[in-house]
Amino acid sequence: MAQKSVLITGCSSGIGYAAAHGLRDVGWRVFASCRRADDCARLRAEGFESPRIDYADSATINAGLTEVLDATGGTLDALFNNGAFGTPGAVEDLPTDALRAIFETNFFGWHELTRAVIPVMRAQGHGRIVQCSSVLGFVTMPWRGAYNSTKYALEGLTQTLRVEMRDTPIDVILIQPGPITSKIRQNSIPHFEKWIDWEGSVRVEQYRRKLRKRLYEDRGPDAFELPADAVVKKLRHALEARKPRLTYMVTTPTFLMATFRRLLPVRALDWVLSRG
Ligand SMILES: NC(=O)c1ccc[n+]([C@@H]2O[C@H](COP(=O)([O-])OP(=O)(O)OC[C@H]3O[C@@H](n4cnc5c(N)ncnc54)[C@H](OP(=O)(O)O)[C@@H]3O)[C@@H](O)[C@H]2O)c1
Repeated sequence: MAQKSVLITGCSSGIGYAAAHGLRDVGWRVFASCRRADDCARLRAEGFESPRIDYADSATINAGLTEVLDATGGTLDALFNNGAFGTPGAVEDLPTDALRAIFETNFFGWHELTRAVIPVMRAQGHGRIVQCSSVLGFVTMPWRGAYNSTKYALEGLTQTLRVEMRDTPIDVILIQPGPITSKIRQNSIPHFEKWIDWEGSVRVEQYRRKLRKRLYEDRGPDAFELPADAVVKKLRHALEARKPRLTYMVTTPTFLMATFRRLLPVRALDWVLSRG
């Protein structure tokens, strides 16, 4: 049987890095793309093909995908949209340009790459597109408004695409992790520092007591946090099962929040979420 190919974005750390290794270990030809050239070089040294794809830069999306298709002879069995970041801060303190910037990576870039891949999958007669959403794609938490908005938008776009693709041989699948060990918090710090004037905020004391502690002090893993391999396990099912599920939840908080959202009145759910 021919080796199957997958393009993964955001492989420098966390879920993308674990997915690249996990899928290669079970026989996939993995194109482990990274945002930065030095990370691509690191992944190549680990034996991966690693095109550079920065979602915020259309030229790299086109060039990166072209590199993949040149290598495979024009086919791609699966795409795992994964690379993303957070910009922590209260909604009232988020400059609109901060939202524009995060949407460029977490949403518009994913759409652009997905659109470019769909004709390839249509032509070859099959394909799977897996989107790394989040528990924060269906419930909200304070201080995470920017990230939350991108994941809610992603859920809307993905669900629409999934319904539209019913008459094609392409499966569109969501993964919704809760807390997973990765560099996501650490990687959000430059975005916080770039965009949030926390010392000029009416919430300065809350930033001091809560958010900055969470960002800058290593308090160990979150409750119910799982290693990135927990996501890779679900990703493998999404890619390899004859009939994949439409949505894969990962971690206890995701299952809990899905249940709370169905059962609790909105004010009660707000109270639960405000503890975060
Ligand atoms: N960790 C969690 O608790 C959790 C929970 C739910 C969902 N998720 C989702 O899981 C996915 C992976 O995150 P992670 O937890 O593994 O965090 P991570 O360790 O910070 O990895 C994020 C990856 O995305 C890349 N990235 C950032 N900006 C990018 C851009 N403009 N273009 C392409 N790639 C870019 C990063 O590259 P650089 O190193 O170059 O910045 C990095 O490789 C994200 O979609 C995230 O929303 C994570």
